[in-house]
Amino acid sequence: MAEAGRPTSEHSGQAVFYIAVVAGLAAVGGLLFGYDTGVISGALLYIEKDFRLSDAMQGLVVSAVTLGALVGALAGGTLADRIGRRSTNIGAGLLFILASLICAFAPGVPILIGGRLVVGLAIGLTSVAAPMYIAEVAPARIRGSMVTLFQLAITIGIVVAYGVDEGFSASGSWRWMLGLAVIPGALLAFGLIPMPSSPRWLMRQGREDEARAVLEKIRAGAEVEPEIDEIRADVEAEGSGTWRDLGARSLRPALSVGVGLAVFQQVTGINAVLYYAPKIFQSAGFSSDFVALAATIGIGVVNVLATFIAIWLVDRAGRRPLLIVGTAGMTLTLAVLGFAFDESAAATPEWLGVLTIVCLSVYVVFFAFSLGPIVWLMISEIFPSQYRAPAMAVSAASNWAANFVVSLTFPMLRAAVGSSATFFLYAAFGVLAVVFIVARVPETRGRTLEEIEALWH
Ligand code: BGC
Repeated sequence: MAEAGRPTSEHSGQAVFYIAVVAGLAAVGGLLFGYDTGVISGALLYIEKDFRLSDAMQGLVVSAVTLGALVGALAGGTLADRIGRRSTNIGAGLLFILASLICAFAPGVPILIGGRLVVGLAIGLTSVAAPMYIAEVAPARIRGSMVTLFQLAITIGIVVAYGVDEGFSASGSWRWMLGLAVIPGALLAFGLIPMPSSPRWLMRQGREDEARAVLEKIRAGAEVEPEIDEIRADVEAEGSGTWRDLGARSLRPALSVGVGLAVFQQVTGINAVLYYAPKIFQSAGFSSDFVALAATIGIGVVNVLATFIAIWLVDRAGRRPLLIVGTAGMTLTLAVLGFAFDESAAATPEWLGVLTIVCLSVYVVFFAFSLGPIVWLMISEIFPSQYRAPAMAVSAASNWAANFVVSLTFPMLRAAVGSSATFFLYAAFGVLAVVFIVARVPETRGRTLEEIEALWH
């Protein structure tokens, strides 16, 4: 007999294909997440000219997305329980369409900022609902690589945004740069309509027959009764949870792991590196805009490629080894950068440029197989099912809050204390992150979501 969540090999190929399609469609939300956070740096150059933006307004156009995402993530927690995981993703797709149109046709700055806020809301919804939906439909043995498709899509979205910015740079058509997101938005909204609801959500709604029908379909004819029994037992034992119960003592260990990982993903500096790469390269001695930009695109491509390491290993080696090795590696490269950017030196040494490219690339490789994908994965799998949506929402919202603080403060920090001290600060957070992971983060590889719940008891 098949074990819960583990189809027999004869059905396995078909089931994996079906899940990959479902996961791939949900991951389009990640593509939009990456695209809309990445596209603004190039678009801003032209928006600034058209609307004569002040520095403060520029800051708002850029950061409105992160603030919107914070609110969207919290709303995603409620919606994912009320209307379901799949419908929340569809709602995010519709919001992406609306927001892209608002941005593309914005007659002035206030509407543009409003549009960027709505983009952020959609990204926030996606950041909660997409990984959760994928985690709840995927069989345990491939859940890691399936949820990692979401991160892969984020990284691809960032590179596509650089490409689109580049493509429209001659004409300066920022409206096209922002408006093109309508296409993946439509794919997300309409592509998911024929897809099944999460069987775990259906069971929580008391819709067991529908849940069984979904499971029979997505497990491609493999025995599903053990999985149904396991989910039913879980629903009956745990009852239902609300936002107010998030303070419960029993949830604290899981919630601290979720929030901790989400915050460490940001305070170790990934977006300082990704958002400000051209500036970092320039201060390392590359005076030409072209070289700085080419190196930035190179870093984006490295980010995409190295994510495949996680897809390959996350269900084989497990989450903990990847997290520990990756975070330690990030910390080390940050420390090397800290030493290399020695502001006391009289002139920028010639080797600094090459060393910076090497260090930032290696740093991004380490991120791409560890804190990048595994944070989204683990916050979708470590929480007991009755609290999964609100607890994941709180974790994702902490990630967005930390993202906001880091990207806002990086330029100020560099101006106030210098690049070296800034890199050392991120490295110090890296050390804390490694200690935290070793001490607190459980291994979830190969376990069903219901088995993971039992780990905390
Ligand atoms: C992070 C983003 C980051 C992206 C880079 C995501 O996992 O949440 O903040 O920009 O990875 O690949």
